Amino acid sequence: MRPADLVRRKQAGLPVTVLTAWDALSAALVAEAGADAVLVGDSLAMVVLGHPTTLPVTLEEMLHHCRAAARGLAGVCAAGQEPLLICDLPFLSYQCGADEAMAADGRVRKETPAAAVKLEGAEPETLAVIDRMVRSGIPVMGHIGLTPQSVHRLGYRRQGGDAAGRHRLSRDAEALEAAGCFALVLEHVPDELAADLSGRLRIPVIGIGAGDACDGQVRVTADLLGLTARQPPFSPPLLPGRAQAVEALRHWIAAQGRSAHPTSRSAPAAPRC
Ligand code: KIV
Repeated sequence: MRPADLVRRKQAGLPVTVLTAWDALSAALVAEAGADAVLVGDSLAMVVLGHPTTLPVTLEEMLHHCRAAARGLAGVCAAGQEPLLICDLPFLSYQCGADEAMAADGRVRKETPAAAVKLEGAEPETLAVIDRMVRSGIPVMGHIGLTPQSVHRLGYRRQGGDAAGRHRLSRDAEALEAAGCFALVLEHVPDELAADLSGRLRIPVIGIGAGDACDGQVRVTADLLGLTARQPPFSPPLLPGRAQAVEALRHWIAAQGRSAHPTSRSAPAAPRC
């Protein structure tokens, strides 16, 4: 799958499904399930690395996890049949100017097989970076609405709650399309706004917490499987994965206690010499 294939899916009226992955195992799972694209999102900072926000994850860590995800895809997909692999550019890898952003993207390109990157926001500086990347042949996915890299300014609140906010998001979405993004993630915004943008934009609008009328949906796989300790209210789990896993492991541990052969637990024989 290539970035242009996601646009073609929209044109054909087909939904676009994007799931996150953080290593070979999770990437293989979402590829086997049939996701169109696999996002190595910076949510791995919270989901996998145990940070309280996405801000601390480094470019080095993103590259490491992206390579692992790519190996997972290669293990289960025929060559050329892999879902599109997208890597998030982490906080401060693209906000310090176009040269640094290009260098960060260059590392993604040279050190992983990811075919596209995702950036948050649509400030003039970000649009300038996206424009330069796209003109250099780099497919870019935009991300507006709730943008976790701006948590200290915006919190995890729904965005676009008032007319001014909705106007700003509409303008940002149009600017990202004009800058050349091949798709746009719209996170935690009113359903009507997401529906309107999906209808108006040529590129696929991929929603999370943005209603059912988007061109596609993206989810953090660990949330969808119910594995994370705190689920975002706008992304309900499909199953109580965490409780089920803990229960299964608890049974296994209890069974070890029951089945242990007394002699197998005795102290090893003292050395003879
Ligand atoms: O990092 C991530 O997982 C994301 C998704 C929520 C879209 O950006």
